[in-house]
Amino acid sequence: MQRRDLLRTLALTTAGLTVLPAFAKQNFMRDIAGPGYTRGDFGDDFLWGVATAAYQIEGAWNVDGKGPSIWDTFSHTKGKIKTKETGDVACDFYHTYKSDIDLIKEMNMDVFRFSIAWSRVLPNGTGEVNKKGIEFYHNVIDYCLQVGVQPWITLYHWDLPQALQDKGGWPNRNTYTAFCEYANMVTKEYGSKVKNWMVLNEPLAYTALGHMIGMHAPGKKSVGKFLRAAHHTALSQAEGGRIIRANVPGANVGTTFSCSDIDPLKEKPKHQRAAARVDALLNRFFIEPVLGMGYPTDTLPGFKGIKKHFEPGDEEKLKFDFDFIGIQNYTRELVKASIFPPVMWAWQIPADKKPVENIEITDMNWEVYPEGIYNVLKKFAAYPGVKKILVTENGAAFTDTLVDGRVHDDKRTKFYQDYLAQVLRAKKDGVNVTGYYCWTLMDNFEWAEGTRPRFGLVYTDFTTQKRIIKDSGLWFKSFLQK
Ligand code: GCO
Repeated sequence: MQRRDLLRTLALTTAGLTVLPAFAKQNFMRDIAGPGYTRGDFGDDFLWGVATAAYQIEGAWNVDGKGPSIWDTFSHTKGKIKTKETGDVACDFYHTYKSDIDLIKEMNMDVFRFSIAWSRVLPNGTGEVNKKGIEFYHNVIDYCLQVGVQPWITLYHWDLPQALQDKGGWPNRNTYTAFCEYANMVTKEYGSKVKNWMVLNEPLAYTALGHMIGMHAPGKKSVGKFLRAAHHTALSQAEGGRIIRANVPGANVGTTFSCSDIDPLKEKPKHQRAAARVDALLNRFFIEPVLGMGYPTDTLPGFKGIKKHFEPGDEEKLKFDFDFIGIQNYTRELVKASIFPPVMWAWQIPADKKPVENIEITDMNWEVYPEGIYNVLKKFAAYPGVKKILVTENGAAFTDTLVDGRVHDDKRTKFYQDYLAQVLRAKKDGVNVTGYYCWTLMDNFEWAEGTRPRFGLVYTDFTTQKRIIKDSGLWFKSFLQK
């Protein structure tokens, strides 16, 4: 099962079936010529960066007073991680942050996007603050500023404190209150140094995969839990924006969304309607309430129950005027009408089954589809109320081999060049896209997949924690050289 095939996994998990992961096709190789554009074509103010997430890189899971998160619990639970690994050590970034930030600088990137591990600074989720945890992020921020890399902070990248999960987690409205306390504390703590903030990372991913599909922490499989988690997440999204704006003078306030380009298998009404439902879930579910449009339940009648969890005033509380939105795009979905799963009546066709000639597929079994990023940029820019867009994640996992101390990851370089061409096309067509952050700095702990899929511009040797800039990272280094 692959995590962006949401419906397939929903159907299979609800039917109690498991399937072996499909192996990615690796039989394409493309010619890497120059990309046909320069850094300058994107404009002098365009920002280039790398994105990461605390749980995927930090390790030090129980060091210096950090409390456990749901990902610690999940990865320590038998059968949850395909490679049987945990994120206990991951990239050990907690100890290697300086040399890792040096690599960002070496690749001529402007920005380091990272997240704060909530349970490192508030081990119980609320209440007592962990001074050592607070100090760690000060050190990371200070080092970024010292070497001339802008720190961009994501408040929440999926690692809820276990103490809050023990009280019901996101399906409990108190988690929204706890999130506000956490957001208030960290923005006051770091707001004088850090101006660029994102509230959430891909709310659909952790609410759906974690509460409806069971593939991610906390491993629940219930549509009801998903709806409650989703509503409290959407409230946190807007309130988090208000808290940042109140506490950080001159803040640039954003939040991020997972976005997929979606096509019906055939241009027939039943497939088009199925594609519209998948679009409502994958693309519209969390941005539309922020913009005052409510949840797209007209298109998704199966999720109408979310209304039951509203308290008076919530409609207003869901709205916020973000300075920017981050879009995160990896692939596109081909959708057909189906009787399964019944909440969606739609089916996402797995990449290795798509009737597409010469399809290129990554190690995550995701189709390489550069036009998709153009389409989602256009789509999100068309919403009234969206002012500015950054691509806060885009990247690809391919099998990397170390040969004489080098990683010739031509497929990844080509992937970036092709996607960037489409970002530039969108910019030229009037989309106000102002930055592009690669996923990711270095190979890391890819959630339920373990460390097998390698997404980094930098190769991680997980035994020695040695880092090697791959050819794709070297390409960025020369492309971004001013
Ligand atoms: C996400 C997350 C990342 C993933 C990346 C590759 O957006 O899903 O932000 O943590 O690692 O997307 O799957």
